[in-house]
Amino acid sequence: MIGPLNHVAIAVPDLAAAARLYRETLGATVSEPVAQPAHGVTVAFVTLPNTKIELLHPLGESSPIAAFLEKNPSGGIHHLCYEVDDILAARDRLRAQGARVLGDGEPKIGAHGKPVLFLHPKDFCGTLVELEQR
Ligand code: CO
Repeated sequence: MIGPLNHVAIAVPDLAAAARLYRETLGATVSEPVAQPAHGVTVAFVTLPNTKIELLHPLGESSPIAAFLEKNPSGGIHHLCYEVDDILAARDRLRAQGARVLGDGEPKIGAHGKPVLFLHPKDFCGTLVELEQR
């Protein structure tokens, strides 16, 4: 059911330092920071030949990654995003198998302008999983 890995998201305490690390030390192409107030994050996109890395930094008071960074002060992998052909069919299939979909279960428009859903990390090997409509 799942298709390509769309991105790996890494929460970082210092976005400029993380962007520099990927650009200068690892030699990757990194975007300028993009504020996404609707998601409570500022993101820098690292483009790799086969996928993307998203460097996430909290934005605003109620950022969904603030608590994660409190627990992981030097940063860490926050979620993986897999593409699916039909996000509603994927949701229904997962629910029928007992997986928990976060929030109200309705897809929201994600960082790339496409519908996304998040799945409970306890149901997926301790990893927060994002599904994105292809
Ligand atoms: Co994501």
